[in-house]
Amino acid sequence: MRTYKLALPAIISAACLALSANAMAETWKMAIGDAAGGTQYELGESFAEELKKRTDGKVKVNLFPNGQLGSEQDTLNNASMGMLDLSILAINNITPFSPTVGVLTLPYVIHGAEDAKLLTQGDVGKELTENTIRDAGVRIVGWAYSGCRRLTNSVRPVASPADLKGMVIRVPKNEIMIASYQAWDVNPNPMAWSETFTALQQGVVHGQDNPYITIDAMKFYEVQKYITNSCYVFSLEPLVIGEGKFQSLSPDMQTTVLEAGKAATDHSYDYLLAQEEGIKKRLVEDHGMTITEPADNESEWIAKASTIWPDFYKSIGGKDKLDEVLQVLGREPA
Ligand code: MLT
Repeated sequence: MRTYKLALPAIISAACLALSANAMAETWKMAIGDAAGGTQYELGESFAEELKKRTDGKVKVNLFPNGQLGSEQDTLNNASMGMLDLSILAINNITPFSPTVGVLTLPYVIHGAEDAKLLTQGDVGKELTENTIRDAGVRIVGWAYSGCRRLTNSVRPVASPADLKGMVIRVPKNEIMIASYQAWDVNPNPMAWSETFTALQQGVVHGQDNPYITIDAMKFYEVQKYITNSCYVFSLEPLVIGEGKFQSLSPDMQTTVLEAGKAATDHSYDYLLAQEEGIKKRLVEDHGMTITEPADNESEWIAKASTIWPDFYKSIGGKDKLDEVLQVLGREPA
C-alpha cells in the first residue's frame, strides 16, 4: 500500500508527460501508387521508420499503397496544394508537371542502377529537385530505384518491335514514352497507372512496361504471360513532400526530413540490388512467365527510340542538358 502511495504521483506525472507528448505527436499521410511489396512501398516504410527514429516517435507516417489516395498524378497535385503530406510516384508521372525531369525518361539514356544513382544523387538530381519545386510545388526528398522497365504482354514472345504488331500497349501519360512506342510503330494507349491492371485483365490493352519488382508487386503475372528483357527507361520513383508543408517545418525538422529521405534512398538502392534477380527468377519459376531477350542486343529498339531525343530538347531545357547527363555517365554527347 505504501509503495502504491509513493508511486502514484510518479504514475500521474508520467501519464501527463505521455499525454502531452501525444498531443505534440503528428501523423503524416503518404500516398503510394504501387501495391505493398514493391520498391515504392519499401522506400516509404524505410522513410517512415527513419523519421520516427529521428523524431523520437513524434512524427508517424501512415502509408496508403495501391493508389488508394488517387492516381499518381492526382496525388502529386494534392501534395502540391497542401491536401496531402507525401507521395511516392514514378518519375514519368512528374514529367507532365515539370518537363525538365524528362531527361531521366528519355529512352536509353540510363542504362542501369549505377547510372540512376549517379544522376539522382549528384548535381543533376539537385537541379531537377529545384525545378520540381518551382514547376510542380513539390520537393523530392528521396528516390526509389526500381530497375529497368521491361515490356510485358499477354499475346506472344516479343524480341523485336515488329513482334508487337496488332497489340495495344498501355503507356503512362507521358509524351516521351508515348513517342518511344510510336517510334517502334506501336499504337500506345496512355492510361493512368491506377487503371492499368483492370485494363490488362479485361483485354482493353495487351501489354505494358514496368520493372520486375513492380510486375511482381502488382501481380501482373495473373494477366500477362510474356516479358521482354528490355531496358528502355530506368524506373525512378521519387518521394515528394508538398513544398508548402516543407516550408512550414522548423529548420531542424527540415534537416531531419532530408536525412530520413537520404537514408531511405540508400536503403532503396541496396534493396533493388538484393531483390531484383530473385524476383525475376520467381516470375518464371513460380508464376509461369516467359522471358525473351531482345533481338540483336536491343539494337533496333535503341536505334528507333533514340530518334525521338531531339523532339524533347526544348522541354528538357536544351540539348546541353542531355549532354551534361551523358557526360556524367561517361558517354559521348548526343
Ligand atoms: C507507371 O507505369 O505509370 C508507373 O511507372 C508505375 C509505378 O508507379 O510504378
